[in-house]
Amino acid sequence: MTSDNQPMQFETTCVHAGQTPDPATGAIMTPIYQTSTYVQDGVGRYRGYDYARTGNPTRTALEVSLAALEGGQFSLTFGSGMAAIDTILHLLAPGEHILAGNDVYGGTFQLFERVLRPSGLDFSYVDTTDLEQVISNLRPNTRMIWLETPSNPLLHVSNITSIAKIAHSHSNSSLVVVDNTFATPYLQRPLAFGADLVVHSTTKYLGGHSDVVGGAIIGKDEALHERLAFLQNAIGAVPGPTDCFLILRGIKTLAVRMDRHAENAARVADYLSTHPNVQEVYYPFHISHPQVELARRQMRSGGGMVSFTMRGGASEAIRVAESTHIFALAESLGGVESLIEVPAAMTHTSTTNSPLAVSSSLVRLSVGIEDIGDLLADLSQALG
Ligand SMILES: Cc1ncc(COP(=O)(O)O)c(C=O)c1O
Repeated sequence: MTSDNQPMQFETTCVHAGQTPDPATGAIMTPIYQTSTYVQDGVGRYRGYDYARTGNPTRTALEVSLAALEGGQFSLTFGSGMAAIDTILHLLAPGEHILAGNDVYGGTFQLFERVLRPSGLDFSYVDTTDLEQVISNLRPNTRMIWLETPSNPLLHVSNITSIAKIAHSHSNSSLVVVDNTFATPYLQRPLAFGADLVVHSTTKYLGGHSDVVGGAIIGKDEALHERLAFLQNAIGAVPGPTDCFLILRGIKTLAVRMDRHAENAARVADYLSTHPNVQEVYYPFHISHPQVELARRQMRSGGGMVSFTMRGGASEAIRVAESTHIFALAESLGGVESLIEVPAAMTHTSTTNSPLAVSSSLVRLSVGIEDIGDLLADLSQALG
């Protein structure tokens, strides 16, 4: 709240939520509480924190910030995006079914198929941009719908409001989880559309500077909070305080970075869509995108990710990815610097020979905040 009791605007929330100056010293930046334990005043009488797996003040500051940004009642943070995803899946019991989008991050697919399916969870994958497919693939034991929107790497956009209604009318206990990593809460707030939980790889845009790995869950429901907080502590995949500090520092500039990422990415998508060597461009706000109208309703901008296929196939995709000078050839995304990669050979190898396999001619760009003229010139010389 501001001093006149108005809710803070998003940009102000980024800079201030969870980050009041340190009462002991006045330090304007949240201190890094690099400690594993806390001295107790008497047995069981402690000052809010007893052991650092259970809680840490730097982590608390990050969790308060993330809950405010997503419009949630709580947030829990983790040592990686995968740790956050894994913790959510521990809400379910063997024999239960998860309906997931058929375009998801390769690591998510790997966790679902190679770790969680052998422990008894059941997964199926559908095109969640098609509501009929969502409805017809629900089962009596479906307990969760897993969405990435926009999805990684094809930038599919699913209707969160409609899918939440479908899920909740199917069963009161069906949860809709949205991986909001690509959009960030600045562009899209899934809880406001009816999702039950939001998950993030904070490694990406929230951290924003390619210097930290982390994850987060945000939600509204107190019973879910209690269970997930128990799981966070019991499983223990928590982030260290320095990592929390770095993510908090990144969040301060989230809105301005996202505006620049999206401005540059829209220009890159326009440029690629006219290039003779490019077959297809995937960008949520581009006129050619099949869900462009939904994207424009659901998101503030198209974000910083652009994918495209090369007419020359896999060898051309690899050649282009190895030919850029400013776009660095690397996995990950969401940092201030532009990155390029070939999903079939890098981030999504786990989907090879599965129904989720992506085209080997696909190239994915994480468009950074550099000068757009420099970025277009780099792509131009690489595309030939
Ligand atoms: C959409 C999405 N979700 C989750 C993850 C996993 O995050 P982390 O690498 O922080 O574990 C990634 C990683 O690339 C991702 O792209």
